Amino acid sequence: MSRYALEGRRVLITGASAGIGRDLSLRWAKLGARLVLCARSEEELEETAVGVREAGGEALVVPADVTDPEACQEVVDRGVELYGGLDVAILNAGISMRGSILDCDSEAMLRVMRVNYDGSVHCFSAARKHLVQSGGQVVIVSSLTGKKGIPGRAAYSASKWALHGFFNAARIELAAHGVHVLIVCPGFVDTEIRKRSLGPDGGPVQTQAKTVGRVLSVKEVSEAILSGVHQRKREMVLPGLGRLMCYLDRVSPRFTDWLVSRMV
Ligand SMILES: NC(=O)c1ccc[n+]([C@@H]2O[C@H](COP(=O)([O-])OP(=O)(O)OC[C@H]3O[C@@H](n4cnc5c(N)ncnc54)[C@H](OP(=O)(O)O)[C@@H]3O)[C@@H](O)[C@H]2O)c1
Repeated sequence: MSRYALEGRRVLITGASAGIGRDLSLRWAKLGARLVLCARSEEELEETAVGVREAGGEALVVPADVTDPEACQEVVDRGVELYGGLDVAILNAGISMRGSILDCDSEAMLRVMRVNYDGSVHCFSAARKHLVQSGGQVVIVSSLTGKKGIPGRAAYSASKWALHGFFNAARIELAAHGVHVLIVCPGFVDTEIRKRSLGPDGGPVQTQAKTVGRVLSVKEVSEAILSGVHQRKREMVLPGLGRLMCYLDRVSPRFTDWLVSRMV
């Protein structure tokens, strides 16, 4: 994407303190975007902001827990106050959980929903009128598990499926207001999310995560998101093996269930 396309664009990125969100922040900064960076850990957000400024971009750090609607509103309000509006909201903050549904604590499973789904809805609700004003874009960082439920990750899968339900409906409604919605569904990405994952009791996970297929780099995901925003795509599934799995699931869901149970 050319620098011109993002020059001066006012962009909210949640989950900007690490992983995909941090990489996106640094890349969008190089392209001239003005960023509002949100996550819980202020120190790590400040590190992202230093990188953003070194790359020639502008960054406003607003630490917030996305499960708190008032905190999400403050993030958006402070960004709009500084930059005069909002053009893009990248709803990326998320946590994972691993464990059999026979063992997982129900409150812990719903905590994943509160961060991944409720958190995105809170941020979107805080941002929507500004996105309508600018004819802006919403980017949802979902997952391949939002396309195909994965054993051992039921709560995580559910939180991503919920995002698809909400934002697929939102896409149709928002089109009438000139707002575009992109949902991105990566497979495994090389970040620390698996180490930070919740275990069945809601505490830190004790087991080593197994990845399947090629693990994407954060660079690949960030570049895919940039091209999806530029081309105003509806949905992106990556890598190719993920697209193949989605196709097989439409043609033969029983076979795909069997395949997934063997792979994961
Ligand atoms: N890595 C993968 O394999 C993979 C695959 C598909 C999709 N994804 C999705 O990609 C997104 C980013 O994940 P990642 O891999 O970059 O993970 P990560 O490195 O663990 O980063 C997660 C980010 O979310 C923030 N976050 C977590 N809970 C939050 C809360 N309650 N309020 C505000 N911010 C919160 C974290 O910051 P704080 O802890 O400081 O709050 C951090 O900045 C997630 O939505 C994830 O589901 C990841």
